[in-house]
Amino acid sequence: MKVHHIGYLVKKMEKAEEAFRKLGYVVRQETVLDEFRQVWICFMEKDGYVIELVSPSSKESVVAGLMKKLGNTAYHICYETDSMEMDLERLLQENYVLCSERHEAVALENREVCFLVHPYLGMIELLEA
Ligand code: NI
Repeated sequence: MKVHHIGYLVKKMEKAEEAFRKLGYVVRQETVLDEFRQVWICFMEKDGYVIELVSPSSKESVVAGLMKKLGNTAYHICYETDSMEMDLERLLQENYVLCSERHEAVALENREVCFLVHPYLGMIELLEA
């Protein structure tokens, strides 16, 4: 598996984008709305590091609870996999638990993604290559 991006939870998308710009990040993909997850998503990059800004678009957002609990913060690392089936099976055997159904990510060319949580590591995302 290869690191694809770091997910960053932000309350105000435009303000966050501006703040990251001032640190030298550039927008790699303009903000899009993921209606399934009820989140705004924008990709930025600096020095080869890609961050995904994720901001709740409604109270029903999948990250509404997390936002309340954590505030603005990095909260997942996304790994690109050549075989979703194999890596998912392996991770489930290694104490990871699925915390979202597998679904197509609008902001990632409709590639399949899923989220997992590990008791000692927190949340990760898998993205099919
Ligand atoms: Ni992500």
